[in-house]
Amino acid sequence: MSGFRAFQVEKTDTGYVRRIVERQVADLPPGDVLIDVRYSSLNYKDGLSATGNPGVTRQFPHTPGIDAAGVVLESAVADFAPGDEVIVIGFDLGMNTPGGYGQRIRVPAGWVVRRPAGLTLHESMVLGTAGFTAALAVHKLEHAGLTPAAGPVLVTGATGGVGSVGVRLLAHLGYEVVAVTGKPAQAGFLQSLGAARIMSREEARAGTDRPLLKETWAGVIDTVGGEILFNAVKSLRYGGSLAACGLVDSPQIPATVLPFILRHVNLLGVDSVQLPLAQKAEIWNRLAGPWRLTGLAALEERLTLETLSDAIDRILAGRMVGRGVVHLGG
Ligand SMILES: NC(=O)c1ccc[n+]([C@@H]2O[C@H](COP(=O)([O-])OP(=O)(O)OC[C@H]3O[C@@H](n4cnc5c(N)ncnc54)[C@H](OP(=O)(O)O)[C@@H]3O)[C@@H](O)[C@H]2O)c1
Repeated sequence: MSGFRAFQVEKTDTGYVRRIVERQVADLPPGDVLIDVRYSSLNYKDGLSATGNPGVTRQFPHTPGIDAAGVVLESAVADFAPGDEVIVIGFDLGMNTPGGYGQRIRVPAGWVVRRPAGLTLHESMVLGTAGFTAALAVHKLEHAGLTPAAGPVLVTGATGGVGSVGVRLLAHLGYEVVAVTGKPAQAGFLQSLGAARIMSREEARAGTDRPLLKETWAGVIDTVGGEILFNAVKSLRYGGSLAACGLVDSPQIPATVLPFILRHVNLLGVDSVQLPLAQKAEIWNRLAGPWRLTGLAALEERLTLETLSDAIDRILAGRMVGRGVVHLGG
């Protein structure tokens, strides 16, 4: 099949429009590995790409999709052969390189990870960049000394992609998890993932004007930025750490040095995009092995190219729950 279906975003005089188009393999950029994409997923960044955010995508028309899992069709390198099942997340996929919302991608071999035994292609996309990022955050927190015995861990943006997998993974590893959400109606969902307590965004924002707050959290996974992020830093226990993943509320943080110099706390950065491939493979192996999560189906909202546009609007409005998984068919 040289023709394939793709979700395309086009720039017009009145804004960005989305439609499903027929494309040719010959339209794809040069690269080492041609992949038959079986599954992709919806991440917040895909919403930014689909609405012309120049920090994500500058060239249009464009096919977003920062995640892809599929089967190698052609390979110019010895590391991969036709039939291999592979995962691609991050690097430039779906940013200015046509992404996983097309049934074919062609990418450099240096972006491709072999599917680890123990994880199906479908499961890898239920996790996707969001789940991978949650795991990377847990990895960094544990590297900084976090253990289940150290105390409760806060997860913000808890019903979102990074947040929901973060809650599930931490609970799986034996942590006491407190979940911050703006969706009180989803308290049951968060409890089913393993959250011990639900906190409102208002509660998470209380005390913004104070230099320090009561020492509460041993660790934090933050996906929202802004006041909620720094309130969480001010509430870390002595020596605790916050892993900063996202900015859905704000990229600005109202910070002082006080928590750092009085409480010895750490603000850790998390980047899944440019993380070297060997480290990416290590995190995927962990998710396929000791960190393998059961009950992933509860996180999935099944999407197709036809239903993707509505889901993109919902993720940008902060209304998605769990993970949107795009089924690209045969
Ligand atoms: N560093 C990396 O490598 C990396 C990788 C993946 C994602 N990210 C970033 O992480 C963030 C989350 O990504 P995602 O794919 O998980 O997005 P998502 O599914 O949309 O989740 C974000 C969640 O944040 C909460 N939220 C939304 N607007 C908010 C606001 N104004 N104030 C407070 N909370 C708000 C909502 O959850 P509740 O309703 O439950 O509060 C929402 O579901 C994004 O900024 C994304 O770019 C970074």
